[in-house]
Amino acid sequence: MQIKIGSETSRPRSVSGERLFDQQYVAPGRVNLIGEHTDYTGGLVLPMAIPFLSTADRKDELNWTGDWSDYCVGVFQQLRNISIEIAPFRLHIAGNVPIGAGLSSSASIEVATLMALLAFAKATMSIEEMAVLCRRAENEFVGSPCGIMDQFVILAAREAHALSLQTGNLRYEHLSLASRHLAETAIIVVNSMVKHSIGAGDYGVRRREVEAGQAILKEHFPQSADLGHATLDELEACSVSMSPESHRRCHHVISENDRVRHGDLMTRSHASQRDDFACSCEEIDFLVELARKQPGCFGARLTGGGFGGCTVNLVAADHAEAFVAAVRRGYKDAFKIDAASYICEAAAGAVTRNQVIHLGA
Ligand code: GLA
Repeated sequence: MQIKIGSETSRPRSVSGERLFDQQYVAPGRVNLIGEHTDYTGGLVLPMAIPFLSTADRKDELNWTGDWSDYCVGVFQQLRNISIEIAPFRLHIAGNVPIGAGLSSSASIEVATLMALLAFAKATMSIEEMAVLCRRAENEFVGSPCGIMDQFVILAAREAHALSLQTGNLRYEHLSLASRHLAETAIIVVNSMVKHSIGAGDYGVRRREVEAGQAILKEHFPQSADLGHATLDELEACSVSMSPESHRRCHHVISENDRVRHGDLMTRSHASQRDDFACSCEEIDFLVELARKQPGCFGARLTGGGFGGCTVNLVAADHAEAFVAAVRRGYKDAFKIDAASYICEAAAGAVTRNQVIHLGA
């Protein structure tokens, strides 16, 4: 796979320039604005797609290589499980979604693969079915215990919009980012270059801690179907029955759901990820603190699964370049690392993009 990570501030571009082939299926990356680690307990998330791309074009025979190809094989296996038969083929994957940065390179590959294979099999599925299938490929074949946010937004995103998703019932709404002062706000992703992986242990440990707490909550409050419906008062009422870790992780998830509902709470979201969920790291905390001190910065937080990866920053558009320069300089001085940064417009998801390609073909 060809991956380019710009060391300078860059606006992500199409992998293959402006030209997209009629048999090429594409899927973007994603950045989550708020609502972290809520998507496997029925909570709320507010991600948007970003204009990095994975592409998959089918070729005429099957030939799997490389460890990241598990994401593709997993999708293929899930299609077989639901009896969608596909003749032998060769799949060519390319992409520029930064790997291990918390911007969903894996879900992007899964979705691009699914789009290509469905077209090859002349089969169609709903957005919900496609998202569930890709998530299952990742959970069951790759063995990474992710939720559904990434696959869903990568499929369903709309240009210039964030996607508000209730992960418990998959109801979603596109929220415009072009209205009022949001139109003059740049969304800047800063990559700490500290590798994040959700396949590795810590994400799974957090998830098990959350699920243990959720099970205790449900025993005490059977009417609360999941953490998406639970309140902090309910959590406090049964906190003595759960481990301190489960209590803190559930405290993050329930309060994070409230922050998604009320918006504009990035600072508190980061503190909760750092202190209650314990999924930040020194470099990311530094980037968030530094960002907040910059003129024109409205909010900064860790985005994605955590333990490294990227911050997402809302910055007045006319301060964006100065913001990036100051943050990169400060980070380099402190950690001797060149952060990458991307000014991201909210991109269209795979469903819209691939329809456009087909119409143009
Ligand atoms: C990763 C997972 C998602 C979600 C986020 C945290 O990106 O793939 O399902 O759990 O972490 O919000």
